[in-house]
Amino acid sequence: MSIIAPSILSANFAALGEEIQDVDRAGADWIHIDVMDGHFVPTLTFGPQIIQAVRPASKLVYDVHLMIERPELHIPNYVSAGADRITVHAEACTHLHRVIHQIKEAGLPAGVALNPATPVGALENVLDDIDMILIMTVNPGFGGQKFIPQSLHKIRQTRAMLAERGREGMLIQVDGGVNAETAPLIREAGADVFVAGNAVFNEKDRAAAIAALR
Ligand code: DX5
Ligand code: ZN
Repeated sequence: MSIIAPSILSANFAALGEEIQDVDRAGADWIHIDVMDGHFVPTLTFGPQIIQAVRPASKLVYDVHLMIERPELHIPNYVSAGADRITVHAEACTHLHRVIHQIKEAGLPAGVALNPATPVGALENVLDDIDMILIMTVNPGFGGQKFIPQSLHKIRQTRAMLAERGREGMLIQVDGGVNAETAPLIREAGADVFVAGNAVFNEKDRAAAIAALR
């Protein structure tokens, strides 16, 4: 059964709490929170204070995707803000193994995200340490972009690598350009967690939009 994680990057920022409550009622499983620092990616979104402010809005999993430089400097702030899971970019970590353990020692599941050009082999030596792999299917920084078709091969490659290493149960999350058309292809390629911004928040009927991704 796929996990549907609407990304609040595409929500109405003037009513973030209500938007989260709306997709919660509409059947979302997780809330995907895109933190961007304007350096690792061109866009600047929000930080721990905003997450703290919307934490009471829902009991759903707050899945924090850190698209920031030097995430190791900020992990404790996201933990205390109420993150339930934290994902960092392999490309943003000089000492990725250390950052993964920093997240786990704080008691949260640790995810690692790979940009489209980063091979899944980059995770070869940390597969036993991580809880989720996020395959970016667009270049990060913006909502509403087109799904990069080569990503399907990368998802299949990741699923095969996990099976080879006896990590079948590890979650594969996909993020970027996920919609009713791409979702079945992504599922068939072996992904479990579907992040969707525009495909959910641009629709009036969020329940139907979420159901269309399942
Ligand atoms: C992009 C973000 C994605 C984005 C997805 O950098 O990581 O989560 O919000 O938006 P859509 O689903 O509209 O492509
Ligand atoms: Zn994201």
